[in-house]
Amino acid sequence: TFMVATSTSTSEGWSSRSAFILAAIGAAVGLGNIWRFPTLAGESGGGAFVIFYIGCVFLLGLPLVLSEIFIGRAGQTDAVGSIRKVARDSNVSQAWSIFGGIGALAAFLILSFYSVVAGWVLYYAGVFGADLIQAIGAGDPFRSALAGESQAMIEGRMGDLFGNVGLLLAMHFCFMGATLFIVARGVHSGIEAAATILMPMFFVLLVGITIYGAIVGDLTDTLAFLFTPDWSKLTPAVMNSALGQALFSLSLGVAGLITYGSYIKGSDGLGGTAALIAVADTGVALLAGLMIFPVVFAVGLDPAAGPTLVFQSLPFAFQSMPAGALIGFLFFILILVAAVTSSISLLEVPTAWGIGELGWKRGTSATVFGVGAFLIGIFCLLGYNVLADVHPLGFWPLFADLDILDTVDGFTGKVMLPLGALLTSLFVGWRADRRMVQQVTGLSAGMFALWRFLIAWLCPIAVTIILVTGLFPSIL
Ligand code: PFF
Repeated sequence: TFMVATSTSTSEGWSSRSAFILAAIGAAVGLGNIWRFPTLAGESGGGAFVIFYIGCVFLLGLPLVLSEIFIGRAGQTDAVGSIRKVARDSNVSQAWSIFGGIGALAAFLILSFYSVVAGWVLYYAGVFGADLIQAIGAGDPFRSALAGESQAMIEGRMGDLFGNVGLLLAMHFCFMGATLFIVARGVHSGIEAAATILMPMFFVLLVGITIYGAIVGDLTDTLAFLFTPDWSKLTPAVMNSALGQALFSLSLGVAGLITYGSYIKGSDGLGGTAALIAVADTGVALLAGLMIFPVVFAVGLDPAAGPTLVFQSLPFAFQSMPAGALIGFLFFILILVAAVTSSISLLEVPTAWGIGELGWKRGTSATVFGVGAFLIGIFCLLGYNVLADVHPLGFWPLFADLDILDTVDGFTGKVMLPLGALLTSLFVGWRADRRMVQQVTGLSAGMFALWRFLIAWLCPIAVTIILVTGLFPSIL
């Protein structure tokens, strides 16, 4: 038998249901939505990828979102401790708590390169900010961006940045510093306060820039590109990356939602909350596509440019757009805002682990993991210059040619996230006490049956397929 905890073992908590929802949406919406999703959709040929992705989110992602929140809500402490508590109350082995540890490690590793990429965004925000100031100084605040620069100059900025270790370091330092500052202040006055200020700002910017893109850009081509499926483009590799992207975008497999869920004190139904998070995250990814591609198509650029789409193609496109200087600046601020509310959730996972399992103070724990991720991030950014010849997993064909950042990204995304998601679905689907799950999640009998089918059967099978085909692409 079990008790749903109404008192708590962690003293920290969200001040309301909507605070949790904002923070969780903030965690989900990030570089994954605005940088990675359009990049992948563009590279994978659009419509078929997008439709398959949406299927992954609702059939696999949503049940996992609910599962992680359930574990946290029931456990009321860091991920490892929460899984241990659910296991104990269900009379199954507490060794399951290992996947909380894998998650915390994955979150820590993702944070290291996430901060480096966010640092690039910070740099571009600076470039457009300076350009905007110049435009205002010249009495023409609504001029297009980067007036007088050639395409080669604009696109060359990224290479210049990558060659400039000092600049890369400074940007990485600022971003990680901001993340650490917020997390050290705690759940209520740090994470919740940041989400409450930044998320409304994010949505205003997102809607504003999307409307702008629809007006000045090429919306017809964009809609055709994003929503007309060419099923021949849906190869196993594309399905694999769609599934992986769904996990990454919903922050699954790293115990992030277990950790955030542990700060829920009330007993509201969790099903609706989980659905809201999945819908919001997917909506933002689609809006990001509707924001970026009209501009890209209007200038006749290649939607399949890859990771440089946002950093090279878009700045060039803003050069021929009305008010490009202003919109370009706001666009990079938008990505930055999204990235901060995600990076704080990444740092919170190991931080909560240090507090709950090692008995550290919050400030100590956040500093240890924030500084640690900063140091690993330094290796990631050196991989573009000084350490360009280093391929950390060179012995493993799948990762052989990757630079340091892509190796950390690839290993966490293709190995650790699917593994975390697989173990989560097996644990919640098969080991956790069913009455406890139904009581804590507050699902109706019908929804519970549907959710159980998805989490116990579809998730483990589909995620195993991602894991295996991701690791051994040659079997396809
Ligand atoms: N979901 C974030 C994004 O899409 O950018 C990335 C992320 C954040 C993954 C937090 C995992 C996590 F715990």
